[in-house]
Amino acid sequence: MLKLDNIRTNYGNIEALKGISMHIKPDEISAIIGANGAGKSTILNTISGVLHPSSGTIGFMGDMIHNMPPHRIVEMGISQVPEGRRIFPRMTVLENLEMGAYIKTGARGTPLSGGKGQGGKTIKEDMEGIFTYFPVLKERLKQLGGTLSGGEQQILAIARALMAKPKLIMLDEPSLGLAPIMVERIFEIIRKINKDGVTVVIVEQNANVALRLAHTGYVMETGRIALHDKADALIINPHVKEAYLGG
Ligand SMILES: Nc1ncnc2c1ncn2[C@@H]1O[C@H](COP(=O)(O)OP(=O)(O)OP(=O)(O)O)[C@@H](O)[C@H]1O
Ligand SMILES: [Mg+2]
Repeated sequence: MLKLDNIRTNYGNIEALKGISMHIKPDEISAIIGANGAGKSTILNTISGVLHPSSGTIGFMGDMIHNMPPHRIVEMGISQVPEGRRIFPRMTVLENLEMGAYIKTGARGTPLSGGKGQGGKTIKEDMEGIFTYFPVLKERLKQLGGTLSGGEQQILAIARALMAKPKLIMLDEPSLGLAPIMVERIFEIIRKINKDGVTVVIVEQNANVALRLAHTGYVMETGRIALHDKADALIINPHVKEAYLGG
């Protein structure tokens, strides 16, 4: 579904990705784990078009996307939930969700105009579908994004990404700063989204929870993929245990 072939990405003259190859299969949850600064976020930002690789190719469902701008990549069906959530704090929950749909449909569909998004459904209908995953948001539509708790903001960021109807959703450190109970809730939602047919790539420093969620895992070390295996094999791999799972 998504294929990275020998991707190199630089920040000025620092090479952050030193030849990354990955093959993300449809309907799977793939986890990318690794220490601070390994290059995990750089991979996601290179896939989503925020950064462009200096060499290598990225193919998505038969198209080459590595030279496309971010909005085109969203239209192709890839949505990203960035590190640190980055919802719009001074907009309401409803407005935040509308922005997610807007990114996909441009000026065409707004709930007020009754405009149709992709697949002929109105944005309002899409939103109703999304509330089945996130009932908590429905009760808080008029609340300002910035006044939600950290966990609720993470939920809003995921919901906003889903408003673009992605085939592939990429999440950067969704567990960061959240209490374990909230992490469990969010991972349960991610599992459901995946069961409903959305491919998931998740970046996590919390290797333990990520590998229990994922089908496959990639271990990154300073700009390279050091290991790639089924998640349950990585959990019992001695090197992974020692370096990432606390022994
Ligand atoms: N805007 C930037 N300018 C220069 N160097 C950068 C920039 N962003 C990241 N880097 C460097 O690129 C490398 C990879 O960073 P990246 O953010 O992808 O790591 P990460 O694995 O996501 O880390 P973390 O777990 O801390 O989020 C690091 O050495 C980092 O210092
Ligand atoms: Mg990061």
